[in-house]
Amino acid sequence: MQRTKINVLLDQESGLDAVLIKGWVRTRRDSKSFSFIEINDGSSLKNIQVIADDGLANYDDIRKLTTGSAVAVQGVLAPSKGGGQQWEIQATDVAIISAAPETYPLQKKRHTDEFLRTIAHLRPRTNKYGAAFRIRSELAYAVHHYFRERGFRYIHTPILTGSDCEGAGEMFRVTTLNLADIPINDKQADYSQDFFGKEANLTVSGQLSAEMFALSLGDVYTFGPTFRAENSNTRRHAAEFWMIEPEMAFCDLAGNMDLGEDLIKNLIRFVMDHSPDDLALFARFVDKTLMATLDNIVTSEFERLPYRDAVAILEKSGQSFKFPVGFGCDLQTEHERYLTEQHVKKPVILYDYPASIKPFYMRVNDDQETVAAMDILVPSIGEIIGGSQREERLEVIEARMEAMGMEKETYWWYLESRQFGTVPHSGFGLGFERLLMLVTGISNIRDVIPFPRTPGSIDF
Ligand code: 4AD
Ligand code: MG
Repeated sequence: MQRTKINVLLDQESGLDAVLIKGWVRTRRDSKSFSFIEINDGSSLKNIQVIADDGLANYDDIRKLTTGSAVAVQGVLAPSKGGGQQWEIQATDVAIISAAPETYPLQKKRHTDEFLRTIAHLRPRTNKYGAAFRIRSELAYAVHHYFRERGFRYIHTPILTGSDCEGAGEMFRVTTLNLADIPINDKQADYSQDFFGKEANLTVSGQLSAEMFALSLGDVYTFGPTFRAENSNTRRHAAEFWMIEPEMAFCDLAGNMDLGEDLIKNLIRFVMDHSPDDLALFARFVDKTLMATLDNIVTSEFERLPYRDAVAILEKSGQSFKFPVGFGCDLQTEHERYLTEQHVKKPVILYDYPASIKPFYMRVNDDQETVAAMDILVPSIGEIIGGSQREERLEVIEARMEAMGMEKETYWWYLESRQFGTVPHSGFGLGFERLLMLVTGISNIRDVIPFPRTPGSIDF
């Protein structure tokens, strides 16, 4: 007999004579001649109640089943007599696949997020984390769905790289050199003897590769893991995170902003439509204002504000920020959150940032002082998207690289794209985990990643 998943059973219109489910015991209680077992198989937030009666051959063993044990249940799907659920299973057979000992760490009480991080291998078995990771899966699907419907091609950009896209130097080095005996040349590690014959790192962004493909296939996107060795132990930074990076040929900054706004709204709507039960858990137990926040985002027009105006607003705000603001400063989370949460009370797109705080590839504006960059800020998170129109003019980008002291030789292939059929093009990076934090109201990035990697922490 074929196994049915609980989410499918709960959607049945009428009862069924014979069903087989397999899952884990969440709770069990006994009455005089029955055992009521709540089973969950991970397919949905909801459990199904199994009624085992004392006529079953292994009834004595069933009565000893504890939380976490795995079972295979055959029976009849019938309308539930108790309240709270539509269906229950009247068991004809309960096979015990494995019994969990009493030391099973997930008991019925509510555990703290901090404790659950120490058992990241078991936490997806809780209601909250099961829901979070089902939503993560839906959201990943929604990304591909969104782009495919709009004719974007999906590009796999490399994870090992020889170039530093963001130029921030926050990269994880990849080497096969013997660290106890590194070959030295001129007081420096001699990477010519390393695996690739030169320095290699884990990528911080797929952008430079994506640009090459946008200039070939038109509209493309990457969606994959990226790595940053930033030593910032905050609730919104991870050392390994996923980024969605669309790149569009023949597209300026305004078109880039339009895509970012539309993408965020569509992805949120997708989860609202496809994961209502899981989302309801977060609205009930994690963030009471969640549905209002999400409604606000999908229905409002994002504010668009030049960086210069944003700085003026912050200066006049009368707030006492930890970090001072002024033209040329990199905005901190406190500034970003003030703008989106207090000032406009909806998402805001800041654009035209000072060139001095932005990477080499961003297009220089006519004022020579700013670049065509844009960040999208959302309530409770701050920056969720960072992007720009790219500098398509060879002389301008070369001058910028020289001024920044970059080695042009490393980027020879990138620069050739500005020589052969160069066109205006734009793109951005959307932090997948930050989006998940927004959608679920989960406030720490460690809790939306199956096995998070942060400074000093790489267990599991
Ligand atoms: O603003 P960032 O650094 O932009 C880029 O990497 C561009 N090359 C993207 C592009 O234009 N194709 O990063 C983009 C987004 C941020 O807005 C944020 O949401 C997320 O990636 N992000 C992080 N998420 C989690 N942990 C970190 N350490 C992150 N750093 C950036
Ligand atoms: Mg950024």
